Amino acid sequence: MSNQFLFVTQVHAARLQHANAPLNARLLRECLQLRHDDAAGRRWSAKNYPGGYTSYDTASRMQQRSPTFAALARCIDRHVRSFARALDFDVDARRLAMTDCWVNIMGRGAMHSGHLHPLSVVSGTYYVRTPQGSAGLKFEDPRLARFMAAPPRRRSARLGNRPWVVVPAQAGRIVLFESWLRHEVPAQRVAGERISISFNYALT
Ligand code: NI
Repeated sequence: MSNQFLFVTQVHAARLQHANAPLNARLLRECLQLRHDDAAGRRWSAKNYPGGYTSYDTASRMQQRSPTFAALARCIDRHVRSFARALDFDVDARRLAMTDCWVNIMGRGAMHSGHLHPLSVVSGTYYVRTPQGSAGLKFEDPRLARFMAAPPRRRSARLGNRPWVVVPAQAGRIVLFESWLRHEVPAQRVAGERISISFNYALT
């Protein structure tokens, strides 16, 4: 008799396959250029994303706008398909397509509080530049509201038993999760800018 893992929440964290340093360098340049060109996005960010810039409101389909982002999307597609297989989704994985893709640049003090990605199936982030000490991606146990009298977990609790888990942000890597999984980016505490590209996949 052994313990079984039921209702498991899967998060995929990996080095982005089939990508290379020149692609990352082009992405970095384009992220910075976009911020430079996107005055409306800078204004929106000043109100809604203090200390940072995001193209979420103004340029949220970068995969259709830039060949560089389109090349990134092709790399991410492979990971999403393998994640869909790992999740046993009963759909043709080719129907899962990138619907949104936007840039986030977080300076010191910038943060993104807990949220989900409604109307999507799989969401994730690719890290372009992550200065030493950059904030990671913090996931919350989706059962948290049902825990009632469940005792707190040991500090040394195994990863799968923790109510919150921070996946480190590392340039060249991606993180994928099901879009209903609540997550946040804690405050960026170092001076250098943390640059990432977030995206959603939905059934098309
Ligand atoms: Ni998010």
